Amino acid sequence: MSGSGTKGTLVDLRSDTVTRPSAAMLKAMAEAQVGDDVLGDDPTVKRLQAKAAEMLGFERGLLFPSGTQSNLAALMSHCGRGDEYLVGQEAHTYRFEAGGGAVLGSIQPQPIANRLDGTLDLAMVEAAIKPDDPHFARTRLLALENTIGGKAIPRSYLEQALALAKRKNLSTHLDGARIFNAAVKLGVSAKELCRGFDSVSVCLSKGLGAPAGTLLLGDAAFIARAIRARKILGGAMRQAGFLAAAGLYALEHNIERLAQDHANAERLATGLRDAGYEVEGPQTNMVFVKAPPGFADYLIRNEILVLPGARLRLVTHLDASAAGIERALDAVRSFAKTPA
Ligand SMILES: Cc1ncc(COP(=O)(O)O)c(C=O)c1O
Repeated sequence: MSGSGTKGTLVDLRSDTVTRPSAAMLKAMAEAQVGDDVLGDDPTVKRLQAKAAEMLGFERGLLFPSGTQSNLAALMSHCGRGDEYLVGQEAHTYRFEAGGGAVLGSIQPQPIANRLDGTLDLAMVEAAIKPDDPHFARTRLLALENTIGGKAIPRSYLEQALALAKRKNLSTHLDGARIFNAAVKLGVSAKELCRGFDSVSVCLSKGLGAPAGTLLLGDAAFIARAIRARKILGGAMRQAGFLAAAGLYALEHNIERLAQDHANAERLATGLRDAGYEVEGPQTNMVFVKAPPGFADYLIRNEILVLPGARLRLVTHLDASAAGIERALDAVRSFAKTPA
């Protein structure tokens, strides 16, 4: 697959993970000072971890190859064999990570239905906490996600969830794969949205445009456990500074511009609605649209890449320009005109 919304005619709306490193990011990667990070020698990895910890208000950071691995290492660092974590039914950690917590951590998930705004009903969360009784798994952790399905969870809700966890003696983890989208949308700092969580996982490879990499943040004791979990999971990398340099570039250059992705998603949603489609969102960079039969295939044939389904998720990102969105809308309108 070649080209992108900005470079060619193809517009890829499958995910914000499809971005390619820009020339400037590649230059930063090529010029990175590196060392063996497993031996603690990579200065660029150390700089990235320290910068992220400072930006997000944690004692320490740890670089992982992927968000899936970072979330799993977090579960394994908070919970032991026979423990349980409370998590949204729609959460990536529960639904889209191949059951890693159960498979590799012997950790039982207790899923709870997400409400339409992405939050969990805290009365349901409280009711799901198991009593200390040998019949039950030990409920140890509450895991939230922000953004979830493109929806930004506000600080006021997080305060209530964190207060419940504290009252019930649960640890807290936030899958903040897209925490900067939430921060830009809500007009608050990412640090503010992370405050009070015991750990947060933040992806560099989604809206921020790095080719790979996720940071796990927490206090020193938690990160020491996560280093061990990362080793078990095979995620300790050697000259990872090349990736860390991309991550540093992303944190320095690609946060504020997320507002453009949100504006492009707004434009896409408006155009789809004007063309008569049933649309949900966007709050950030995701638009959901009810797809009539043949719609997804038609878009793909016209080089507007989408993941097929009855409800399409269209995602804007740094390689989907405003012009690319207009091209996608041209294809939408020409489908509407195509005789059945
Ligand atoms: C909310 C969320 N968390 C975690 C992940 C996992 O990230 P990765 O694909 O790097 O494993 C994703 C990936 O799309 C995600 O959307």
